[in-house]
Amino acid sequence: MVDLNFKYKNLIEKLRAEINVSPDLSIVLGSGLGDFANGVDLKVSIPTSELPDYPKSTVSGHEGFIHLAELHSKNILLFQGRIHFYEGYKLSECILPAFVSHVLNSPKLLLTNAAGGINKTFKPGDLMLAKSFNSFKIWKELTEIFGVPTLEQKNLSLNIPSASFNRQIKAAAEKENIELKDGVYWINKGPMYETPAEIRMYEKLGNDAVGMSTVHEAIFAGVHGIDVASISCITNMAAGILNQKLSHTEVIETADLVKEKFESLVKRIIKEI
Ligand code: HPA
Repeated sequence: MVDLNFKYKNLIEKLRAEINVSPDLSIVLGSGLGDFANGVDLKVSIPTSELPDYPKSTVSGHEGFIHLAELHSKNILLFQGRIHFYEGYKLSECILPAFVSHVLNSPKLLLTNAAGGINKTFKPGDLMLAKSFNSFKIWKELTEIFGVPTLEQKNLSLNIPSASFNRQIKAAAEKENIELKDGVYWINKGPMYETPAEIRMYEKLGNDAVGMSTVHEAIFAGVHGIDVASISCITNMAAGILNQKLSHTEVIETADLVKEKFESLVKRIIKEI
């Protein structure tokens, strides 16, 4: 078991010294929402490179900052830059945004991400609200942090994503006239994109989109009583669905095209919560 309070003691101290309010909502800005921080009133901006023990983000499009922002009279904690398994980081590092949200008493966490569309009715540029998460063994790996579960913990049932938070998000999308698909998000830890055969398997297993983040962050936050939701920007159709190769450039380009719609939705969500 990893004692996160001990492991990140210095980081927590520094954060608490800089951010002395509890956020109303925390948001992990995935591909496509990286510029979101530029359009809001930033009260505090901390480069994660100045935070002791905070992993360095190595992916282009993922700046490393934690901001405290204000919008619609709400305090919002923004994570600009995510920590991924495929960068070689451990689970106890990948869940840091969820852990920090917990430490700062955020009641809600919105996880945003880029994902490949498995559901053939989706198209690049769509936004998908996760109605459920799926993986082969992320839950088992989380025992690295939570310890070996006792019988009661094994029977723990998680309300992730949060049904009530999802309802608020759907209402916000309607008000903003933004179409929001819903579906099941599957995590592939990467670093490689999937093979067409894997995608056919994931489709048969009932998944609608695939990405390389989010599920462990959601479980960690959910276990700590935070209401979690996830919105995916479908940046490409998953491998083999269309007759073309996948590339990180395509992911960044589509995310860029959807940026305005995604930002309007997130701003509306902040207004409505
Ligand atoms: N697969 C996995 N992760 C992704 C994809 C994909 O097709 N697109 C964006 N992130």
